[in-house]
Amino acid sequence: MLEALERIQQEALQALAEAQDAEALEAWKVAHLGRKSPLMQVFPQMGSLPPEQRPLVGRRANEVRQALEAAYAERAEALRQQALQQALESERLDITLPGRRPPRGGLHPVTQTHRRIIQIFAEMGFQVVRSREVELDEYNFQLVNIPPHHPAREMQDTFYIDHGGDGEHYPVLLRTHTTAGQIHAMRAATGYTGEGPLPADPPPLRVILPGMVYRYEQITARSEIQFTQVEGLAVGRSITFSDLKGTLTDFARSMFGPTVQTRFRASYFPFTEPSAEMDVECFLCGGKGCNVCKYTGWLEILGCGEVHPTVLRNGGYDPEKYTGFAFGMGPERITMLRHHIEDIRYFWSGDLRFLEQF
Ligand code: DAH
Repeated sequence: MLEALERIQQEALQALAEAQDAEALEAWKVAHLGRKSPLMQVFPQMGSLPPEQRPLVGRRANEVRQALEAAYAERAEALRQQALQQALESERLDITLPGRRPPRGGLHPVTQTHRRIIQIFAEMGFQVVRSREVELDEYNFQLVNIPPHHPAREMQDTFYIDHGGDGEHYPVLLRTHTTAGQIHAMRAATGYTGEGPLPADPPPLRVILPGMVYRYEQITARSEIQFTQVEGLAVGRSITFSDLKGTLTDFARSMFGPTVQTRFRASYFPFTEPSAEMDVECFLCGGKGCNVCKYTGWLEILGCGEVHPTVLRNGGYDPEKYTGFAFGMGPERITMLRHHIEDIRYFWSGDLRFLEQF
């Protein structure tokens, strides 16, 4: 019996050394320490031994069991360590690897131009005012000196929103120009509501009104149904046309370069008198003539003028005492000129191949 125990121990230890993973280890435990294992079979057999051998065999059997249990625990620990080592090696992170840059969006080219224009005027002391995009016909047309049947309305086909009930008047619309905001800005400064006497001594005003405008037009390479504008308005006691020229020439130099030439051509707008358009020297050919400036050497970039007396009065300023200048420009047009973009439809196309170039 003692010899059998010896053999049981030897065989078990040998088998244990061959167990290479947790599964094999569990199988070993069942085979060598389980209820049906050779070792455990020894205990029930002890009753048939001569009484003087029983304590000897019993002690030995217990020693073997303890030895196997200890060996099992040791092997289990060794395998655990081995598995841990393997995991550490195979799952190791290379923290020296450079990261992948997340893709980064950029500002739309028109937004960039729009913001640049706003920044230049803000630095000159113009307040930036946002006016509504959904307007009344009154503000968009009538109060800026475009009465219901004025031919200037033909220049701006309009998105009307509210048919006003009688089928003939259409009072609510999407603004066709930021000029609509001039009246809001002036009335906010003067407190004038459009009725009663003009305020006695309203404060001067210097604002720009940037934002989206809408026109009900055929979309072509040169015209879109929505685009941005930046409107400017200055009203005070002694504002002259040379203030207008100086301000806009300064603007052109900040926008296009300190040596850029400007010129003013007489023009017509209902809300200004006199009216003009400002050209800048073509910044693509430097004035020599190219296909962008149509070989004139000049690019038209904005409309402007002295605020019409009727418009001043509608804003609450007495045109006998106050004068002002106004201007309006289109960031899309300026962006197209700067980047040589030949089709305005690219701006709303959402095509990343276009947008990623800016
Ligand atoms: N409202 C004009 C347009 O949309 C632009 C404009 C011209 C605005 C002359 C002005 C101005 O304030 O004085 O075409």
